[in-house]
Amino acid sequence: MKQRILKIVCIGAGYVGGPTMAVIADRCPDISVTVIDLNAARIAAWNSDALPVYEPGLAEIVRRTRGRNLRFISQTEGAAAIAQADAVFISVNTPTKTQGEGAGKASDLSYVESCARYIAEHATGPTIVIEKSTMPVRAADTIKRILSSGKNGGSFHVLSNPEFLAEGTAIRDLEKPDRVLIGGENPTAIEALAAVYRHWVPEAAILRTGLWSAELSKLAANAFLAQRVSSINAISALCEATEADVDEVAGVCGADTRIGPKFLKASIGFGGSCFKKDLLSLIYLCEFYQLSGPAAYWQGVLDINEWQKRRIAAMAAEHAKLGGGVVAILGLAFKKNTNDFRESPAIDICNQLLASGVRLRLQDERVDAKDFAAHIVDQRKVGVEFFADVAPAADGADALLILTEWDCYATIDWPALFSSCGKNPAIFDGRAIIDRRAAISAGFKVYSVGKG
Ligand code: NAD
Ligand code: UGA
Repeated sequence: MKQRILKIVCIGAGYVGGPTMAVIADRCPDISVTVIDLNAARIAAWNSDALPVYEPGLAEIVRRTRGRNLRFISQTEGAAAIAQADAVFISVNTPTKTQGEGAGKASDLSYVESCARYIAEHATGPTIVIEKSTMPVRAADTIKRILSSGKNGGSFHVLSNPEFLAEGTAIRDLEKPDRVLIGGENPTAIEALAAVYRHWVPEAAILRTGLWSAELSKLAANAFLAQRVSSINAISALCEATEADVDEVAGVCGADTRIGPKFLKASIGFGGSCFKKDLLSLIYLCEFYQLSGPAAYWQGVLDINEWQKRRIAAMAAEHAKLGGGVVAILGLAFKKNTNDFRESPAIDICNQLLASGVRLRLQDERVDAKDFAAHIVDQRKVGVEFFADVAPAADGADALLILTEWDCYATIDWPALFSSCGKNPAIFDGRAIIDRRAAISAGFKVYSVGKG
């Protein structure tokens, strides 16, 4: 096997593959990086000025590396790149299975398996195959089995190198990661990948583990993070009932260095493409190994999340129906600073509001509202309108429901908005970001999550 990685291919040009490869190319000018994807439109967008992923800082990095040592090509052109690659990252989607054994819980590895077949078919020499996608434990067994069927003389070592970036802060997370994790069996392959990261990541932050620990650590890390959000959201409801303030409680708990201050912001519930699917994958693994207690424990984290969304949507619907039944939704992205709305809490909340007979006026800073509406299952087209700005969205609304913590919502001029809203307007601040006093003195009724 080659000791040095000089040619990298990444299969999958999504929210992980695109930014991750852009940062590797930026920090490793001696390495050539090729990103391929089945989706030709996505590749075309990566080659344009309108990148398919919005992340602060990403466009600048792509601008300086694309055409230098970073290129985006379609799958049909990918075979030659695979033949020459020293290392191939698999960074494709691993969604929850919708059919077959484990449907509704287990991860669908069909995209990963098709990458392994593609690599087996086109690799010609020693190749390190790297799991960048989030996989269930022991997925590497399946990948190895498929790779061993290759007939072109490729020989393979499989590593697990899960990604911990969060959307909205992806570039910062990639440039200054808390840790990089490399799991594997072959020390030469592990060190070859570690040398890539050492271009900019301190040695002490590069963790090496066995393959199975690496695969499981990724699922465990996401489960722990989701659990913190569910914990603070469970406390938020109790704060509302007792007139305590969830931010104060979080501040006190977080001041304990054993607990720490991060990831304790109460909300309408966590969203995003990964927490739910990774928790479901973990639950499935527990059930597969007949660990019903742990399965029930992690299911509880998901259940609280669903409960939190339902109860806040119900409050907003109840208030809106006292007036004209119009709710302005401020924020569709699952968090700020991203255009991603996969599994956004806004999807379930909008569905629930529409089902209860409320009409919606949708607004977001980055999400295309029409695109979003296509994902609302219960689409009563007459009941949904789209707006680019807050003021027209709020026009005539009985309730303003803040679902994403975009900075601009924290500084809304409430007196200016009040007169154009419905008769008895209320703000439902699902992120607890607004100046409550200013909104109340402007005339609004105000509910903020976790505030008594
Ligand atoms: P994504 O859907 O944005 O991108 C995946 C890409 O893979 C798509 O463009 C798709 O067309 C492409 N693809 C699928 N099968 C292919 C194939 N056989 N050949 C070529 N291209 C193929 O997904 P993502 O958000 O980038 O996530 C990818 C993986 O990374 C998932 O396993 C996810 O759990 C994990 N992850 C995601 C994040 C995140 O913030 N989004 C963070 C850490 C880990
Ligand atoms: C999360 C993890 O943070 C990443 O480490 C991981 O790599 C990634 O999942 C993944 O595997 O996909 P991401 O989902 O992009 O990243 O964003 P987070 O910042 O974790 O937020 C997830 C959700 O939790 C958002 O809806 C956010 O609003 C919510 N959240 C987060 C809260 O409600 N309160 C908090 O205190 C923190």
